[in-house]
Amino acid sequence: MKIQAIRGVKDIMPTEVEKWRWVENKANQVFARYGFKEIRLPIFEKTKLFSRGIGETTDIVEKEMYTFEDRGGEKVTLRPEGTASVVRAFIEHKMYASQTVQKLYYLGPMFRYERPQAGRFRQFYQIGVEAMGSHNPSIDAEVMIMLMDFFNVLGLNQFELQINSLGCDKCRPEYREALKKSISMHLTNLCENCNKRYEKNPLRVLDCKVKSDIEIASGLPKITEHICDKCENHFKQVQAFLNSTKISYSINSKLVRGLDYYTHTAFEVTSGKLGAQNAICGGGRYNTLVEEFEGPSTPCFGFALGLERLIALVPFDKVENIDKKPDIFVIPLGEEAESTAFNLIHQLRSGGVSVERDYDCGSLKSQMRKANKSSSRFALIIGENEIKEKSYQLKNMQDGTQFNITATTCVKEIQNLINNLT
Ligand code: HAM
Repeated sequence: MKIQAIRGVKDIMPTEVEKWRWVENKANQVFARYGFKEIRLPIFEKTKLFSRGIGETTDIVEKEMYTFEDRGGEKVTLRPEGTASVVRAFIEHKMYASQTVQKLYYLGPMFRYERPQAGRFRQFYQIGVEAMGSHNPSIDAEVMIMLMDFFNVLGLNQFELQINSLGCDKCRPEYREALKKSISMHLTNLCENCNKRYEKNPLRVLDCKVKSDIEIASGLPKITEHICDKCENHFKQVQAFLNSTKISYSINSKLVRGLDYYTHTAFEVTSGKLGAQNAICGGGRYNTLVEEFEGPSTPCFGFALGLERLIALVPFDKVENIDKKPDIFVIPLGEEAESTAFNLIHQLRSGGVSVERDYDCGSLKSQMRKANKSSSRFALIIGENEIKEKSYQLKNMQDGTQFNITATTCVKEIQNLINNLT
């Protein structure tokens, strides 16, 4: 019986993992500059954390969660996103007690039962960032600037940052009513999905992907024209901060996001290079979620980016030394040479040198072929003669030069050689 991976779930193969690690390291470096610290969160949580946090009427909660009862009868869900878990952890560990803005980030797999297609998976990876504890619009701007900084470090260029304001719990209900009133005049022409959204989540009509609906949506009232003075002021300040750093962005008043917890600023980064699933990153402010979970009032701002989509855009051909090659390939010829080589390899590796070998112990020609294939910098040949003479042959695989190296000092010499190269 041949068992294959589950649909929409994929292996990340070793050569790909090198790229992932490189991107993850860059994230660690950039985020650390802005004072963000990593938090590691569980992969599953109580179902109600997500259903209440993300919103009962969202697609994620209605259709996409991997939910099951554990053996104790508890309803649990594989996390579809990280924000709700961060909020839970923030309250559970009383992180609010420090009275300073908590700047956190996380990385790991998320699970959504969506229809798999290019760039859309049922298990996918996110890097997420949450800044918790400040109303200051400079946080909104700073976090988006950090994201742009990260993209810059990765060498990404073709992407677009779009921002919007979704108002607050005071002005949004009014906008929602105005929107519903306007949508009600188009119901017969709107798609079936939008007819459902009209009742439950009318704002989502604004980002329907059906062509004829897009046209209708462009004539609907704009949220930015309905937000209260406080929200408008916040939004203006965010823009002023962004402008001061000359970051390019546009305002998209139809940007609404698929999760219910957002208030004030919302944003997305898309890339035309990605096809239909063009969102690399999405996020925004969520000022009421901590309170909804019975924590103290804590305004927050964050985002999450999809790693598969991001990695597809990174120009890795311009990145040097991404895949680690062995420093040296040790080639023993004969049984006695193999036991000498075994011990030598151990000493080299313990001394910080990366060593590869051929476990078939084939002929010189076949081992040389494997050394070439491994792209190692050097090959060390240990034959019977070499053992007798207590001197091995070291070959520089890049320029083909070859020289003898004394057995007793060879570990030290190879270490020096490698250190001088790197
Ligand atoms: P989201 O927009 O649902 O936001 O997801 C963020 C990113 O995850 C998307 O822009 C996309 O790149 C990636 N993504 C989502 N679903 C899939 C999928 N099925 N396959 C591949 N990639 C996917 C959130 O998750 C919020 N928690 C973001 C946030 C953090 N807001 C505030 N803080």
